[in-house]
Amino acid sequence: MSDEVPVKLRPEILAQRAYKQGKPAPADSFKLSSNELPFAPLESVTAAVRGATEFNRYPDAAAGAVREALAEHYGLTAEQVIVGAGSVSLLYQAVQAAAGPGDEIVYPWRSFEAYPGMVALAGATSVQVPLTADGAHDLDAMLEAITDRTRLVIVCSPNNPTGPALAQDEFERFLAKVPADVLVIADEAYIEFVTDPRALNATRILADHPNLVVARTFSKAYGLAGLRVGYMMGDPRILSAFGTAAIPFLISAQGQAAALAVMRESDAVRRRVNEISARRDEVRRALLDQGWRVPETQANFVWLPCGELTERVDGMLREGGIVGRAFPGDGIRVTIGEEASVTPLLAACWRAIERWPYLRGDDAPAE
Ligand SMILES: Cc1ncc(COP(=O)(O)O)c(C=O)c1O
Repeated sequence: MSDEVPVKLRPEILAQRAYKQGKPAPADSFKLSSNELPFAPLESVTAAVRGATEFNRYPDAAAGAVREALAEHYGLTAEQVIVGAGSVSLLYQAVQAAAGPGDEIVYPWRSFEAYPGMVALAGATSVQVPLTADGAHDLDAMLEAITDRTRLVIVCSPNNPTGPALAQDEFERFLAKVPADVLVIADEAYIEFVTDPRALNATRILADHPNLVVARTFSKAYGLAGLRVGYMMGDPRILSAFGTAAIPFLISAQGQAAALAVMRESDAVRRRVNEISARRDEVRRALLDQGWRVPETQANFVWLPCGELTERVDGMLREGGIVGRAFPGDGIRVTIGEEASVTPLLAACWRAIERWPYLRGDDAPAE
């Protein structure tokens, strides 16, 4: 069968690669490819999901109880919160609401792999602003990329897949220079893992910037990736437009029950997150000692810059029982997982950097 699609479809969609999920891991390997939390779900959360059995009924489309609980947590009104089927779903809605053909969306690159696809689906144009050499946002270049056609600017802090967080003060200076009628989304999917007190927490300045929307999720620190619940906070008029772009009933009753239950488990969640953040710092330190150029990371993953050697290093990690997320030609993102994954990860990374000294950033050719 030829690869040619037999009917007329939108060429910009055909040109786009579909979102690719992190690879599954064989039984004897660690799956460190999707930035998930490695711990089993908390008992109270599992019980809440088990209790949500009325699935002959549609779920609450607005996830009202979750919205109320989040509003209370953040000191906002329920209208300043919108819940979606994962924050990715809300990002799609935001892009649909903000931009169409001829409009531009500015975001850092490399960043979350789903951004290009959502822009293409809207028929809008991606303006990708390269990261700095150390994997951070280049906010000056992002400002320069804003034109009359810009409808949305996305920042991702900490940045997936490289790890650095924006500093609060640099983001505030940036935001002050963005035209007030241009929507800015701060995608803070990994903020719970942040330990640097200078790092951005965009909710602090929501009240002063009606064009700012903050995106967060229960998928990462809260361990609900499989139940699909994320949220955004911002001006009710903007969020209401995002709601118009929603596919109804995507947030399951089980996801809503789990989100409510996990919000009541803040101590257990904090302990788990602290464990991952501490392990992240240990892993990064060990990798730096090996000679890797791992950017500073405030998330639950580390970035291994591998350039043209990416696929070969990925193969070596796999042989060592580590399934990371390889971005060919660029690098590998490795999620911080269970404690038992650390030794095989560091051993495989050591074998790779011994084999290819080029990974240290030396000029040595990559044979
Ligand atoms: C930066 C970023 N934003 C958003 C998401 C979406 O997460 P979810 O849809 O599970 O809330 C991810 C997931 O990998 C992410 O890395």
